Amino acid sequence: MKKLLASYGREDDFRAVVEQIIADEEKKNNRVLARSLRKTLDNLGSHPQTGGLSRLVPFPDEAKDFIQRIEPRHGPQDIILSRGNIELFVGLIREFRQADRIRRHGLPVRSKLLFCGPPGSGKTLCAEVFANELGLPFFHVRLDSLISSYLGETATNIRKTFEFARRQPCVLFFDEFDAIARSREETGEHSELRRVVNSLLIFIEQIEPQGFLIAATNLDAHLDPAVWRRFDEIVWFEQPDDKMIRKYLEHAFRNVKVTFDPSSYSNQLQSYSYADLERVCVQAIKLSVLNGNRAVSDADFRHAMRDAERRRMRKQKLEDQTRE
Ligand SMILES: Nc1ncnc2c1ncn2[C@@H]1O[C@H](COP(=O)(O)OP(=O)(O)O)[C@@H](O)[C@H]1O
Ligand SMILES: [Mg+2]
Repeated sequence: MKKLLASYGREDDFRAVVEQIIADEEKKNNRVLARSLRKTLDNLGSHPQTGGLSRLVPFPDEAKDFIQRIEPRHGPQDIILSRGNIELFVGLIREFRQADRIRRHGLPVRSKLLFCGPPGSGKTLCAEVFANELGLPFFHVRLDSLISSYLGETATNIRKTFEFARRQPCVLFFDEFDAIARSREETGEHSELRRVVNSLLIFIEQIEPQGFLIAATNLDAHLDPAVWRRFDEIVWFEQPDDKMIRKYLEHAFRNVKVTFDPSSYSNQLQSYSYADLERVCVQAIKLSVLNGNRAVSDADFRHAMRDAERRRMRKQKLEDQTRE
């Protein structure tokens, strides 16, 4: 273990130590572990972009208030995407894996993505799954804390963030990017905040990340061209339609016994977001557990839907009040 840690960053040494561990485990007859370690080691070699193992750049201490490393817990099996988006992501992953080859031809590699779509449509989840698929560390930038910190420091913070992303192969994710789009609209021409926002946009324009930079926003129609033209791809996340609702329900109950047909409710679930759908399904499963049943019943699902409906009504009311 000690040798393994000491060899971090030196790939040949690292591999040699792992080979030794595998040989030891084989000798001890721990075949399953040995085979699994072998598979992991072989997989590392399949990312030519990062030369097998990705480097870990020391995390800037000053950035810990607004950059957070997230350990991805979700994989592609956990997300429902439209066919178009699946194709797009498969293409991006392919491009990333062969980035050197593309660059040798003097061609640009797409690496800056803007995710647009209503709340609960899977933007954050997708960024996580994407990082996981690429085998890259996932860093979450909290724009609200980055911007609301002392403005004078914000500029330095932004510079540090980008310096970090330039050196660290990673997925750097700016969630709630609306904060930026909005502050461009709402602040006066010469305010300091406006300058900060503009400098952030310039950084985005100039950076060539070693992994990906992804920003997510709930706004779409009003998206400022100064914002979206900085990105290589704009990815739209839609509210699920009837077909996707059915697909989601099938997915949500794939490992659970049911005594009814969830898809018969697809009509009543129109205008639900994926996050709403998830809440209903989880709640229905929970009720069946609480009732000590082995299968989820029609009554459980209807009960869960009533809860969700109440929640949605309340939320709508709050939104209307804010607008007034
Ligand atoms: N496309 C999707 N497929 C499966 N589950 C989804 C999807 N979109 C959202 N969810 C569920 O809703 C939760 C919240 O979604 P999130 O990614 O935070 O939405 P957004 O960032 O667009 O507001 C997710 O953690 C997931 O459980
Ligand atoms: Mg989100």
